[in-house]
Amino acid sequence: METFREILQTAESRGVAIGHFNVADLTLIKAVFNASQELQVPVVVGASEGERKFFGTTQLAAVVRSLRDQFDWPIFLNADHTRSLASALEAVNAGFDSVVFDLSALPFEENIRQTKEAIEVLKSANPSILIEGEIGDIGTGSEIHQNMEISEQVLTTASEARHFVESTGVDILAPAVGNAHGMLQSMVDGETKKHLRIDRIQEIKAATNVFLTLHGGSGTADADLEQAVKAGINVVHINTELRVAWRRGLEEGLAKQKSEVIPYKILPAAVESVQRVVHSRLRLLNNLH
Ligand code: G3H
Ligand code: ZN
Repeated sequence: METFREILQTAESRGVAIGHFNVADLTLIKAVFNASQELQVPVVVGASEGERKFFGTTQLAAVVRSLRDQFDWPIFLNADHTRSLASALEAVNAGFDSVVFDLSALPFEENIRQTKEAIEVLKSANPSILIEGEIGDIGTGSEIHQNMEISEQVLTTASEARHFVESTGVDILAPAVGNAHGMLQSMVDGETKKHLRIDRIQEIKAATNVFLTLHGGSGTADADLEQAVKAGINVVHINTELRVAWRRGLEEGLAKQKSEVIPYKILPAAVESVQRVVHSRLRLLNNLH
């Protein structure tokens, strides 16, 4: 079985990206796993600190490991948007494959200092763990927002990216390239889309020698995602689209069987609804048209 690093290298050499999907419960995990098997592509499941608190960090790692081992399947686990060293260490010790150590809210030099320190601690706990650092502002909250404005000032520059990567030793960088977490209702309704600064991705890729992640993938125009991957994005994070699909599927499952109380008869509608979204995003990211 290839490691997460090897999977990323293979994806980069093939000009495709790995899909990263956030999960908070078993319906979401089943949806992500099923879609990746349908398309025969590797996948990453991610859980933020909130998602891990709900699921249980150790329990989530055990579920993902059991899928990987039983089905000999390239499914990896990422500790998403982790803001404290204690929480990152808990995930590393539980067996996660990567950590997004997100101190992007701190002043730039402080982000560098603390990220560098954290990498030393986390890599001594597990030398093969991959650490992602984040710079620039891509907003918070994988949910429906009233406003989403992205100004030029919050975008990551190529020189900032190079300085951050060289100073910290991160394996993966999450830049701000026009992306933002969450969706507007008009994006959920399919009336508007997010657009990316492809030129900025190209500049950052040329200035660094690490893998690049695109956060805030939900609601992004398909053409922009395709171009972002060509420009050097290796991992794309999708969360809000799954949450919207999960809620819709759950509501459909409940509405169709009004007096049903058996969870395994209601929840498959939520799995199927999320699975369709994951399938469609994985097809796009893996260039399977
Ligand atoms: O880390 C999670 C992602 O960046 C998800 O962003 O909710 O806009 O898809 P999204
Ligand atoms: Zn994110």
